[in-house]
Amino acid sequence: MVYIVPMEYPHEYERVLTLDDGRTVSVRPIVPDDAELLQAEFDAADPETLYRRFMTPSPKLPTSRFRYLATVDYVYRFALVVFSPDGEGVAVARYEGHPTKPDAEVAVVVKPEWRQVGLASRLFAMLDERAAQAGVSHLNAVYLAENDAAAALMATSGFGSPKIEGGIVEVGKDIALSSR
Ligand SMILES: CC(C)(COP(=O)(O)OP(=O)(O)OC[C@H]1O[C@@H](n2cnc3c(N)ncnc32)[C@H](O)[C@@H]1OP(=O)(O)O)[C@@H](O)C(=O)NCCC(=O)NCCS
Repeated sequence: MVYIVPMEYPHEYERVLTLDDGRTVSVRPIVPDDAELLQAEFDAADPETLYRRFMTPSPKLPTSRFRYLATVDYVYRFALVVFSPDGEGVAVARYEGHPTKPDAEVAVVVKPEWRQVGLASRLFAMLDERAAQAGVSHLNAVYLAENDAAAALMATSGFGSPKIEGGIVEVGKDIALSSR
């Protein structure tokens, strides 16, 4: 795919990751031209995955939402997209914050055939790294109480004690800022 890279695009987050089963994937920061890819992956995703990611059954997102999700500032809003060696999209991870707030919320989705081989954990480590550089000092996450995979991911990624209310879990962790 040929895409235009915004001026603020942090090239140092273009990486190849080796997963626990030996497969490799390519990671890079999201770009506005990824909006169509996000929409196509959303349209093709299974209902259970969408429910766990968006915490509502049969979520509907307008086209403008995919454009918004693909257009980030790489500081307060940051996202990574992941591709298999044959160029198929396999995961997206992001944090969403705001210049007026010290915190941001993380979210991730990994395609079923790429799960449980350490991909989400590695993506969260990259989000931590970017948050530390960007001055985002606290990350939080929300997920459904029944989502055991998310609970395990948050625990292994250093998020603290879960607060549960109405079937929704909230966790958070502080980020040690790197000197800039
Ligand atoms: C949650 C999700 C992102 C995890 O991705 P993943 O790439 O499989 O996660 P990892 O392989 O990095 O595993 C992280 C930890 O969770 C554990 N884990 C992953 N899936 C699990 C499952 N189904 N049941 C129990 N533990 C699980 C792993 O063993 C690992 O724990 P460890 O470090 O102690 O060994 C993935 O299941 C997914 O995309 N789900 C749908 C969307 C969603 O739920 N997003 C989260 C809310 S935003």
